[in-house]
Amino acid sequence: MLFTYLILLAVPLTSATLLNARANSTCDSSGATSEGSCQQACATLEAAFPGRLHYKAADTNFTIWDQKQQQTVFVCRVQPTSAEEVSQTLQVLVKNWCRFAVKCGGHSRFPDDSVSVGGVTIDLGLISSTVVSEDRTSARLGGGALTRQIFAALDPYGLANIGGRVGQVGIGGFALGGGTSVLSAKYGWALDSILEYEIVLPNATITTVSETQHPDLYYALRGGGNNFGIVTAFNVSVFPQGPVYAGSRTFTDENVEQVLQEAENIFTLEDAEDTNKVLEYRYSFSASRNVGTISTTQRYLEPVMSPPVYDTLNAIPALGNLTGTISSLANSTGNVPVLGETRSIFASLTHYPSVKLGVRAIALLKEETLLLKNSTGIASTLITYSIPTTAIERMKSRGGNSLGIDVEGHLIINLLSVTWPSDSDDRAAHALVTRFMEGFKRAAEELDVLHPFVYINYANKGDDVFAGYGEDNKKRLIAIQKNIDPYGIFTSSGLWRGLFKLR
Ligand SMILES: Cc1cc2nc3c(=O)[nH]c(=O)nc-3n(C[C@H](O)[C@H](O)[C@H](O)COP(=O)(O)OP(=O)(O)OC[C@H]3O[C@@H](n4cnc5c(N)ncnc54)[C@H](O)[C@@H]3O)c2cc1C
Ligand SMILES: *[C@@H]1O[C@H](CO)[C@@H](O)[C@H](O)[C@H]1NC(C)=O
Ligand SMILES: *[C@@H]1O[C@H](CO)[C@@H](O)[C@H](O)[C@H]1NC(C)=O
Ligand SMILES: *[C@@H]1O[C@H](CO)[C@@H](O)[C@H](O)[C@H]1NC(C)=O
Ligand SMILES: *[C@@H]1O[C@H](CO)[C@@H](O)[C@H](O)[C@H]1NC(C)=O
Ligand SMILES: *[C@@H]1O[C@H](CO)[C@@H](O)[C@H](O)[C@H]1NC(C)=O
Ligand SMILES: *[C@@H]1O[C@H](CO)[C@@H](O)[C@H](O)[C@H]1NC(C)=O
Ligand SMILES: *[C@@H]1O[C@H](CO)[C@@H](O)[C@H](O)[C@H]1NC(C)=O
Repeated sequence: MLFTYLILLAVPLTSATLLNARANSTCDSSGATSEGSCQQACATLEAAFPGRLHYKAADTNFTIWDQKQQQTVFVCRVQPTSAEEVSQTLQVLVKNWCRFAVKCGGHSRFPDDSVSVGGVTIDLGLISSTVVSEDRTSARLGGGALTRQIFAALDPYGLANIGGRVGQVGIGGFALGGGTSVLSAKYGWALDSILEYEIVLPNATITTVSETQHPDLYYALRGGGNNFGIVTAFNVSVFPQGPVYAGSRTFTDENVEQVLQEAENIFTLEDAEDTNKVLEYRYSFSASRNVGTISTTQRYLEPVMSPPVYDTLNAIPALGNLTGTISSLANSTGNVPVLGETRSIFASLTHYPSVKLGVRAIALLKEETLLLKNSTGIASTLITYSIPTTAIERMKSRGGNSLGIDVEGHLIINLLSVTWPSDSDDRAAHALVTRFMEGFKRAAEELDVLHPFVYINYANKGDDVFAGYGEDNKKRLIAIQKNIDPYGIFTSSGLWRGLFKLR
């Protein structure tokens, strides 16, 4: 039985199989799959991958960042260990017409983003190795690798990739959507450092995508999210990098304008003069205490304690002394956090540099958070940094990516992060995000500094992120998607529906 099954798996998915599977599936008018077809798929996968198939009820060890995804009920979770096994898994799911989601680091915020709603969660966590090339200029990263695993593997070589700020974030979602890093002023965003992808296509074929092999798909994968395939390996450029400085300082509400003015000066210096400098700031407001604070994270990519480049910023009166450490990227991202306890929404806005808009956004966040009263457990934070000139220039390399960012100088990217502990505040949290983002966008338009780019990795459910890439990019992405996926398996009417879909 198993033998026959494996023979079957060696045959790629043909159009006849696909049409049959879809027609035979017990789907309702919306095209949703029934749990029965997934039970069958899980049983087949359990036989093929013993010990690496977990039914939901017995999957007590499974944890994921957002509580909403943690509470999502799937039928089973499968842990493939290679591209071949991912391909086999996909074939079983398509033949049974069973819905699925793909998980890497699991830092998405909504059910079905990386935990399947009523289907199969393909967990790439066992595909996580890092292999450095002989010449030490590139590394092959497993499609399920986490930032902390990659930094830890590269650190002994004195190397780093363009990785995230938080160790548990996965290379998968991070690099397919963009990938902003503390190395970005120097080397750009992660998506522009990818030389090759190993990917499982909708027809379950495993292929390599690069500037010379499937160039259309190479363009599409740099920004197109989870619309094109399951990436089983990223071949990325790596760079010499030793320990870095990171310091933090917290200022009061009264000094917001001064801090933002000085931050803007630093963003300009990050562009050319000193790409070792990396600054971000975050504004948090506590409604219950009626206190707002603005904190900076001041980084320097050399092991220099309290680098003088931040002296002007640190001359602004603050709530406490400057705190700082020198640490390797591996050490500073090494901890394994507690997962699944907090609910969260992200939303994002990109704009041309404008201190005036930054100040207005902070005032608006304070106003909107105060409206919540003090009865809720909702916390809101606005995190701001730049998309440096180097990063924007590198977006044109190797045929260009699909993000549609093409400006002189830098842009400012904002992440609104709203978190709360219990579903009783879901409605209030969503309303806060909607109201704040509407006001923020209106203010940006009034000041004529809005940029249409909405970073997919920070976007809110329902945002039309691909429209923000520009009409031509969106059209081209849809055309490429249709071409590789004529049956729409990776679309919103197919089997892999989570996150942001082109069609
Ligand atoms: C605490 C925190 C810190 C963050 N820090 C940063 C940061 O410093 N810089 C930054 O740019 N972003 C950051 N982000 C945003 C982050 O990049 C996105 O949330 C990203 O989508 C997370 O990827 P993941 O693999 O961890 O998540 P997942 O939820 O596992 O994946 C995200 C999406 O990508 C798809 N996907 C994942 N892996 C693959 C693959 N191999 N092939 C195909 N599809 C795949 C999944 O199906 C899912 O839809 C942060 C987010 C959080 C919550
Ligand atoms: C679909 O149903 C037909 C007729 O019952 C059957 O011959 C075929 O094998 C089925 N196809 C699949 C993929 O299950
Ligand atoms: C949960 O994890 C522990 C420790 O890693 C392991 O011993 C145990 O077998 C796991 N349980 C299940 C149900 O997978
Ligand atoms: C990455 O791809 C390049 C070719 O583009 C190749 O020379 C290099 O060896 C690859 N790196 C790894 C680690 O496989
Ligand atoms: C700041 O540092 C000074 C000198 O080391 C110390 O006296 C003071 O208590 C510190 N202030 C705070 C708020 O930690
Ligand atoms: C990283 O952590 C290890 C273990 O704690 C320590 O020995 C090492 O000095 C640290 N390195 C840096 C650069 O922080
Ligand atoms: C808000 O806090 C104030 C002061 O702590 C308290 O008097 C009031 O009852 C609280 N309001 C609500 C709605 O909890
Ligand atoms: C699978 O799809 C790719 C991309 O469209 C195509 O090049 C390839 O020929 C297909 N393979 C099979 C076996 O149909």
